[in-house]
Amino acid sequence: MSSERQFRLGVLGSGKGSNFVAIADACASGAVPAEVALVLSDVPDAGILTQARARNLPAQFIPPGQFRTKLDDETERLYVRALQEARVDLLVLAGFMRVLKGEFLRAFEGPIVNIHPSLLPSFPGLEAWKQALDHGVKVTGCTVHFVDAGVDSGPIIGQRPVPILDDDTPATLHERIQRAEHELYPACVAAIARGEITVQGRRVLWRKPSA
Ligand code: GRF
Repeated sequence: MSSERQFRLGVLGSGKGSNFVAIADACASGAVPAEVALVLSDVPDAGILTQARARNLPAQFIPPGQFRTKLDDETERLYVRALQEARVDLLVLAGFMRVLKGEFLRAFEGPIVNIHPSLLPSFPGLEAWKQALDHGVKVTGCTVHFVDAGVDSGPIIGQRPVPILDDDTPATLHERIQRAEHELYPACVAAIARGEITVQGRRVLWRKPSA
């Protein structure tokens, strides 16, 4: 048996967890050289928790506290403690609907990544696929980026374009973007787990061709 320690992922999500499923299944198949150490959610009946438990992965609801769009200070400490106790190397945000404050980023210390449903820096914030449709752009997509103290503003790791079709509705476009997300996110997490990524200021460099 190999004594080499596996790279450990913590995952935060509030929703159905389709990106989590793509990453967890890629870990299980060996495509991503990592294991899911802990899944946390601020929503008690979130699909992401159900999906994690169905795979026998540790999953926990931690009540978010008094605010709607962020965690309060005490709650942030609970999240960070749980992730540290699980010895998480990389925190993966997969549809977590709250902003992590500077205190969280400082306390967690390790890298944090997020996936956003647009080609950043276009259309940060909520319902980015709808913003793209309303704006009339012809191409949108998804972006995996490191998390910094801003909203959807950290260094970009990988992007996938998705064309916008004349008959797209918000629902059809969102579905195609999600399919692209399910390829892009595991590829980016795998590159980080393999140590193939370096950050130089805002530029993220890949040792192999980027996703
Ligand atoms: C994804 O579309 C992602 O871009 C956004 O939140 C959504 C999460 O979906 N950040 P799921 O829970 O992974 O299905």
